[in-house]
Amino acid sequence: MFKNKTILITGGAGFIGSHTCVELLNGGHEIVVVDNFANSKPKAIDIVQQLSGKSLKFYEGDICDANLLERIFAENDISCVIHFAGYKAVAESVAQPLMYYHNNVYGTIVLLEVMKKHGCKSMIFSSSATVYGIPETAPITEEARLGVINPYGRTKLVIEDICRDLSASDSEWCFSLLRYFNPVGAHESGKLGEDPNGIPNNLMPVIMQAASGKIAELKVFGNDYPTRDGTCIRDYIHVVDLAKGHVAALNCMKQGVEAYNLGTGNGYSVLEMIEAFGRVNNVNIPYQIASRRQGDAAECWSEPRKAERELGWKAQLGLEQMCRDAWEFVQKNKK
Ligand code: NAD
Ligand code: UFG
Repeated sequence: MFKNKTILITGGAGFIGSHTCVELLNGGHEIVVVDNFANSKPKAIDIVQQLSGKSLKFYEGDICDANLLERIFAENDISCVIHFAGYKAVAESVAQPLMYYHNNVYGTIVLLEVMKKHGCKSMIFSSSATVYGIPETAPITEEARLGVINPYGRTKLVIEDICRDLSASDSEWCFSLLRYFNPVGAHESGKLGEDPNGIPNNLMPVIMQAASGKIAELKVFGNDYPTRDGTCIRDYIHVVDLAKGHVAALNCMKQGVEAYNLGTGNGYSVLEMIEAFGRVNNVNIPYQIASRRQGDAAECWSEPRKAERELGWKAQLGLEQMCRDAWEFVQKNKK
């Protein structure tokens, strides 16, 4: 549908955005990227171009800046937006909710207003499994009850609701809401990966800090959950598979709002992750069982068949590849 058309990528220098840019360029798409480097580095844009052997047009700036977005839409014939830009740290969102509502919700409203003005009514949005809150059952289908338990999650649900309201008001809008499960891994070149500006607190980056001795040990948050080994179960998905999901969604955009789970459909426990990472990379991961972290669901993993059925997309890369590629990136980019 959008072959040979220009696609705007917000947050394209970030972890998932940069991998998606590589896949889009490899797929022959023209792309324009906007990012303010709030949680990424300019180097990512160079690497995207290096890996794909193609160039992209880059604007440094904030999506909350309507004048900048006006300029981007005036200078480029944009037919669809893939919207990654936003903050994503749950604990930070609890401490600084206004910052999250401003950046994520207000930023999206500014973007949608400029899109509307320029007649661009197609958006792929980075939603999250967080919109399912504490799920009642797993695997989770797209029809599961929505409910959120922290401000970050609420920003995602509010944006989803805005998309549903806009679509109800004007049937020309096309929205694909991609609900990611737990993205991990890195590009197989070892050149592109997760390179955040702050202190990581997601499992995979913390495992790598423990493996490299940056922290003395990993704390396993709870081993008394009703799961096979007592630790929480999540659906870890390789970031390159996730990136390819965006290309698939772009090729299947249609009027209305569709939500898709992007996950593998497999759940792994915290202890299984530690074991797999240590085995695949031949490293020791010191850990200790600690108390539960507030707000963690025992199990959160996807039923991803809607995406397979409707987008023709299915995750291909397994847990070992995720562990290998994540470690390779860290090893090659030691600071
Ligand atoms: P990331 O922080 O690596 O990427 C986000 C990018 O957006 C960064 O490059 C950042 O600099 C940029 N950005 C932030 N605010 C901006 C603004 N106002 N204007 C311009 N650029 C801005 O995060 P990621 O892991 O790549 O996540 C991308 C999207 O996917 C986010 O919306 C996130 O909430 C969502 N998501 C991520 C996960 C995850 O675990 N990584 C899970 C579910 C959903
Ligand atoms: N965990 C530990 N020790 C740590 C870090 C994490 O035991 O040091 C455990 C957590 O308790 C949880 C599992 O590892 O059981 C995964 O935790 P993450 O923080 O990596 O991921 P979450 O599933 O909690 O959340 C992630 C993103 C959210 C997103 C959600 C669903 O951080 O933004 O996936 O997509 F909403």
